[in-house]
Amino acid sequence: MSLPADLPPLTPDESAHARALEDRIRVEIETRDGWIGFARFMELALYEPGLGYYSAGAHKLGAAGDFVTAPEVAPVFSRCVARQCAEVLATLGDADILEFGAGSGAMAATVLEELARLEALPARYCILDVSADLRERQQATLANACPQLADRVVWLDRLPDSFTGVMLANEVLDAMPVERFAIRGGTVNALGVTWQLGRLEWSEARGGAALEAAVRDIEREIGRALPDGFVSEVNLTLAPWFRGIATALAHGVLLAIDYGLPRREYYAAERRTGTMLCHYRHRFHDDPFGRLGLHDIGSWVDFSAVAGAAQAAGLEVTGFTTQAHFLIGCGIGTFMSEVAALDLVQRLNLSRQAMLLTLPGEMGERFKALGVTRGYDAPLSGFSVRDLRHLL
Ligand SMILES: C[S@@+](CC[C@H](N)C(=O)[O-])C[C@H]1O[C@@H](n2cnc3c(N)ncnc32)[C@H](O)[C@@H]1O
Repeated sequence: MSLPADLPPLTPDESAHARALEDRIRVEIETRDGWIGFARFMELALYEPGLGYYSAGAHKLGAAGDFVTAPEVAPVFSRCVARQCAEVLATLGDADILEFGAGSGAMAATVLEELARLEALPARYCILDVSADLRERQQATLANACPQLADRVVWLDRLPDSFTGVMLANEVLDAMPVERFAIRGGTVNALGVTWQLGRLEWSEARGGAALEAAVRDIEREIGRALPDGFVSEVNLTLAPWFRGIATALAHGVLLAIDYGLPRREYYAAERRTGTMLCHYRHRFHDDPFGRLGLHDIGSWVDFSAVAGAAQAAGLEVTGFTTQAHFLIGCGIGTFMSEVAALDLVQRLNLSRQAMLLTLPGEMGERFKALGVTRGYDAPLSGFSVRDLRHLL
């Protein structure tokens, strides 16, 4: 797969934007002796201030953007998340919510509205996003959807010193920079990026110590060597990310929902070209250099790695299940029982949302929910229906 031939042409502004980001990356490559690893490339492509996909003006999420997420297309998803939050907030007493990577702010708005309905509002709803550009969009969404609740929302530049409550991360892990690697004759090569003949190109180099160790850990855990030519991804930033969370989280729960797999499936032979994908105007492709700054780049999440990093940081993994089972545990069925009170259009809309979120061929099984806790022993409804932790 490469850049689809029938994508709409770029406007002059889009071309200029892509070229400016390409220049920035070329300079970075030149200052690093002609080669950068994929994770650094991805970090620049997505988050370079003023240029990266998430850090510049592109519309990104939603029907008019490049891809949609559950909170964008199915508010009942966020209402279920709110129910899980309400349960934890009631157990903890005086507690807050902190959402990582809030995107357009759609989930924040619906969660706050649902918590207001349940009379379970937190004192503060904090948002921590690596993209400063999205902050304005989040503020506009909240001001528009629930102006009466917007004053509870606080934007943070870093994790608080001490936090009690619920941390939420929906489709954040897939947007973290990953290293790409290839197995060549038993050695671990890093797939990186060079500048050749006036363009960005893939280039392999012997993997560094951290990448080599991570791949050998994967092979040990799945009980076999990865085959020659196998290409995949590994997120080396999970350990520091969870160390930060473990330092901040005094009591409470982190809920991470994303598309991903346990390690054995993630590194199965049939996934021998990896999981990295780019999204542009609701089409996907595997050429991250093609429309720089204009398309999203993401990869599937290795949930075993996420759970392992959380545990290594001293946190407890208290739940792992499919999105469908998580939503059922949170009571998506009770929303469906409201349908009698709705008109036909609302009923159809609600059942469309429920199908999209829970059917195995849609988001129901591809997406998983992981619950991580510290100093929190009460059961979590979202994980009460089906426990899949043995697969991690
Ligand atoms: C795919 S979007 C998902 C947005 C939103 N959560 C949703 O579900 O619609 C990824 C979001 O995560 C943010 N992000 C990526 N890495 C992050 C990190 N380490 N900490 C906080 N936000 C992050 C991005 O800026 C972006 O807002």
